[in-house]
Amino acid sequence: MFESNLLKNKNIIVTGGGSGLGKSMARRFGELGANVVIFGRRKDILKETENEFKNLGIKVLSVDGDVRKPEDVQHLLDCSKKEFGVINGLLNNAAGNFISPTEMLSQNGFKSIVDIVLMGTWNCTSIIGKEMIDNKSGTILNIVTTYAWTGSPFVVPSACAKAGVLAMTRSLAVEWGKFNIRFNAIAPGPFPTKGAWSRLMPPGFEEFENSMKEKIPMKRFGERHELENLASYLMSDGSGYINGEVVTIDGGEWLAGAGEFSDLSKIPYSLWEEMSKIRKEKK
Ligand code: HXC
Repeated sequence: MFESNLLKNKNIIVTGGGSGLGKSMARRFGELGANVVIFGRRKDILKETENEFKNLGIKVLSVDGDVRKPEDVQHLLDCSKKEFGVINGLLNNAAGNFISPTEMLSQNGFKSIVDIVLMGTWNCTSIIGKEMIDNKSGTILNIVTTYAWTGSPFVVPSACAKAGVLAMTRSLAVEWGKFNIRFNAIAPGPFPTKGAWSRLMPPGFEEFENSMKEKIPMKRFGERHELENLASYLMSDGSGYINGEVVTIDGGEWLAGAGEFSDLSKIPYSLWEEMSKIRKEKK
């Protein structure tokens, strides 16, 4: 759906870019002409992805480190600048999550998620953002989720942290607009990946997975290319006046969950016809 040079000459850092959705989006950026830096904790996975991208003709650098550690993020920035020069884009994608009844969470369980999601995004945004301020240009895209604004039971640390990331997105969109830095967020619904699914849909939760799909108006999970395209658009100059926005990509899932009468779609059509017949007869 895009011209093949949509992101040409853009240097983009993707956190959590070695696997899952981060890898998909990074690959798409690369296919559209960007030079990409993938950052993550697992050196072997990063190297595999780096080689895969190189075979596709993508200019890529992998840097291993942890978004929770400011010194690792500084190292990421230093290596990225050395390799590619100016940094044009940052995709804050790295996340951590697991399901748990909240009363069973330890202090550290809560903290570890907030450290990865909220503090990790802050570390990257502040350290790489200052570089963008110096350059008077940049695009920062944050991955949140629809429960950033509804909240969600059983993933409370993630909900709190993602809500914080959304607040950061909107706040800095206003504060740093004067530096020509744009901030936007994407709120994906369910997009199955090995990492997220193993944590959010462990064995024994198959029935829940099916009922989750049933509740989505489109009756299916998201497909990666759909997310990749949205991220590419928001990273591109074509979306240059979109700032402080969160774009939901969930097949209508969260609205269906909120709508008072959403469950009426389960009523057989014959019943609607019967009711209509009775109403007309009464008239
Ligand atoms: C309860 C748990 C737990 C679980 C870990 N903990 N898993 N508590 N139930 N299932 C607790 C541990 O006991 C520990 O507390 C604390 O959390 C930290 O755990 P560690 O394993 O020591 O931490 P660490 O090695 O840093 O790993 C972080 C992690 C891990 C988040 C736990 O899963 C990870 O690295 N995840 C990264 C990838 C990921 O999660 N991807 C999915 C993102 S999906 P104690 O007290 O024992 O020390 C996503 C999408 C949301 O965000 C939207 C979906 C629609």
